Amino acid sequence: MSITPATLMTLWQTVLKLSRVKPGEQVVVLNTYDGSTPYKSVALSQSEILGAQVSYVEVPSRHGLPDAVLPLLQAADLIIDLAFILDSQIHRCRETGTRVLVILEPPEILERMLPQVADQQRAIAAKHQLAQAQVMHVTSAAGTDFYAPLGEFPAMCQYGFADEPGHWDQWPGAFVFTFPNEGSVNGTVVLDRGDIIFPFFSYIQSPITLQVENGFIREITGAFDADYMKAFMAQYQDNNVYAISHIGWGLSHNGQWEALGLYGKGETEGQDGRAFAGNFLFSTGPNTVGGGQRSTPCHLDVPMRHCSVYLDDQPVVLNGEVMSDQQTSPPLAIV
Ligand SMILES: [Fe+2]
Repeated sequence: MSITPATLMTLWQTVLKLSRVKPGEQVVVLNTYDGSTPYKSVALSQSEILGAQVSYVEVPSRHGLPDAVLPLLQAADLIIDLAFILDSQIHRCRETGTRVLVILEPPEILERMLPQVADQQRAIAAKHQLAQAQVMHVTSAAGTDFYAPLGEFPAMCQYGFADEPGHWDQWPGAFVFTFPNEGSVNGTVVLDRGDIIFPFFSYIQSPITLQVENGFIREITGAFDADYMKAFMAQYQDNNVYAISHIGWGLSHNGQWEALGLYGKGETEGQDGRAFAGNFLFSTGPNTVGGGQRSTPCHLDVPMRHCSVYLDDQPVVLNGEVMSDQQTSPPLAIV
C-alpha cells in the first residue's frame, strides 16, 4: 500500500507539530551518505513550513559522528534522524536539551501508526507506574516465570514524537521500559512460537527456553530456533551479550503483531513488533541507554505474546492484554 505525497506531507506536519517544532527553532535533518531514506525532502520542507531554520547533514556512518558536526547537533532544538545514529554522542546532545526523533519505517506504517497525544498519556502513565515498582514478575502459559528487581535505573517510555527538551523518540511506536537492577534477574524465560527476535526479523517457530541466573542467561535450550540464537550470541565471544537488557511492555493500539510477515528483511525496522499493545518486550545485552556501564554490540529485542506482567504483584498486562486502568489513565501534565 502506498500513500500520496500530499498525505505524507500531512502526516509529517502532524508529527512535527506534536514534536513542537516552531518558528525560529533549529532543526537538523541527519542522514548517512548511503542512506536510502525517502524522507529527506519532506523532512526539510515540512520543518521549513513550520518556520524552523533547517540544516541537512550527511555523515559517513551511523556508528560514528565526525567531531565537526557535533557543535551543530548540540545547537539544534530538534534532530530528525533518518539513519538511526548509534553513536552515543547523539545522546550527549540531549543533555543540553536537543530533542531527537528517529524516522525509518515505510510510509504506510508511519500512517497506520501515526502517534496521538493519547499514546503519550498512556506511555507516561505507564512510566510513572513502572518507576514506582520494586519488582517486575513475568509469567506465561508457555513457562515463563522470572523476577526482575527494579529501581537502579529509570523508567523510560516512547510515544512516537519528541516534544520535551532532551527527549529521544521514534515515529512510530508507544511502549514503556526500564532496566533490571544489575545482576538481579532470576528465573525462566520461554520464548514461544510466534514471538519475534530482532535483529533476525523472524517469528520463532519452536520454543526457546532461557535459564536466567543473577542477570545473565546461563542456558539456552530448544530446537532449531534455540540453536540459531545460541550460535548468533556465541559469535560475539562476550559474556555481556547474555545479560538482560531493557524490559517493558507495548502500548500501541495501531501496532500489529502480524505486520512483520508482510515485509522482507530490510523493508521495515520492526516497530510494529516492538510496540503492539500488550506485548512483553524482553531484550538482551547492554544497559547503557538506562545509564548502566554494560556495553556490548549484541542486542536482541524479543517481543513476546501472551505474557502476564506484574509490578509488585499488581498486573499491568494479563495474558497479553494491557489492563484497562493503564489504558484509560487520565491525561497527565507533560513533564
Ligand atoms: Fe532494544
